[in-house]
Amino acid sequence: MRTQLFIGGRWVDADGGATFGVTDPATGELVAEVADATPADAVAAVDAAAEAQPRWAATAPRTRSEILRACWQILVDHTDELAELIVRENGKTLADARGEVAYAAEFFRWNAEEAVRILGTIGVSPSGANRMIVHHPPVGVVVMVTPWNFPAAMITRKLAPALAAGCAAVVKPAPDTPLTALRVAELLAEAGVPDGVVNLVPTSNAGPVVDAAVDRTPVRMLSFTGSTATGRLLLRRAADRVLKCAMELGGNAPFIVFADADLDAAVEGAMVAKMRHSAQTCTAANRFFVEEPVLEDFGARLAEAMASLRVGSGFDEGVQCGPLINEAAVTKVDELVASAVAGGARPLTGGSRLDRPGHFFAPTVLEGVAADADITRHEIFGPVAPLIPFTDTEAVIAAANDTEAGLMGYVFTGDLGRGLAVAERIEAGMIGLNRGVASDPAAPFGGMKQSGLGREGAHEGVLEFCETQYIATTW
Ligand code: SIN
Repeated sequence: MRTQLFIGGRWVDADGGATFGVTDPATGELVAEVADATPADAVAAVDAAAEAQPRWAATAPRTRSEILRACWQILVDHTDELAELIVRENGKTLADARGEVAYAAEFFRWNAEEAVRILGTIGVSPSGANRMIVHHPPVGVVVMVTPWNFPAAMITRKLAPALAAGCAAVVKPAPDTPLTALRVAELLAEAGVPDGVVNLVPTSNAGPVVDAAVDRTPVRMLSFTGSTATGRLLLRRAADRVLKCAMELGGNAPFIVFADADLDAAVEGAMVAKMRHSAQTCTAANRFFVEEPVLEDFGARLAEAMASLRVGSGFDEGVQCGPLINEAAVTKVDELVASAVAGGARPLTGGSRLDRPGHFFAPTVLEGVAADADITRHEIFGPVAPLIPFTDTEAVIAAANDTEAGLMGYVFTGDLGRGLAVAERIEAGMIGLNRGVASDPAAPFGGMKQSGLGREGAHEGVLEFCETQYIATTW
């Protein structure tokens, strides 16, 4: 297993030789020691990317496309191995991890198809005297800072379109999950990505390492997925160099169930929206607004489904919910639940951490949650579903929008017209209408309000890594 830094196509120790430990969240045991990049390593990685940048940008789109297609293939061919690494360091179930590898790989297949379709326009100026040529060169070297919840897919969602556009990159993976990132980098090199185009600097010292990278002259863009709080800090730092920024930040998704919804479908959708990848996604349903006439029925069915989940190590047969990523995550969920209960909420199932090694919290449904409870204001990032009753459509739309986050929303109703009308009024970049999951490499993923800037996936995803240049000429 690779545990060094990957810079300029070579595996190297960190400057000074330090390492940091990676643990298994299901057991707390040490899994590996990984090279701990320093600011000097970040500078070396940026310099390697800068050297590779012009050659990669000048590589024919068809060639880039074929390399991306080979990246898709090699990731698919290594599904089992990558999935096991993901379970080992992230804790999600093997089924979810396999799903993540397919999702991660698909960003390369989609963007292989985009690489040859980054088209511009040519037009005549309104006066008729001049020509206006508009095209989209790559933005240049990109620094990517990625999270632990999708150790493979949140990297490929950035790398694949960046590579398609002709950008070289420096990736700083999350310290909880660097092993998958290292193996992905190795496989991409095997698939034909030239030296220096992808560089990887795992570190336990994120702030100084990322700062050193973004301060370096050749860097032209910063792409981040993670919390809104960290996103704000990165945006401030990037402002000093006026870097282009793509930010995929936190969510606080409302999940609205109208009384006319197919309740079986709503419960099934709720389970996916809440529990996908062990309840640790930024698109996770965070607040369940349920219309009064079906509140009791929906709550009972959801509680039954949550209570029946098998919780344990992601490697164990039949497990449907793995651990949270670390102790701090369990403490945070525990405190949110305790504060909701102190405010009058009642657990229909679960309600506490599990008394076993590792970082486990019981799948929980809370009824009687006050609309302004702390748990409705914070991204839970754990297996807890707070139920909030509603009686009025205007009021539920206002409550759903009463948050600075605007990443994802869900609407369940039997009336498609009403569903569309409500969906359009939810201030979120993505809506699941009678669906519990929306993520797709072919669709634009991203948020409104403080959930982010820019979109990943779809054609928009490639354009994020492009500049727009206009050439004025006359002939
Ligand atoms: C995320 O949680 O950051 C991404 C979720 C997804 O891609 O579905």
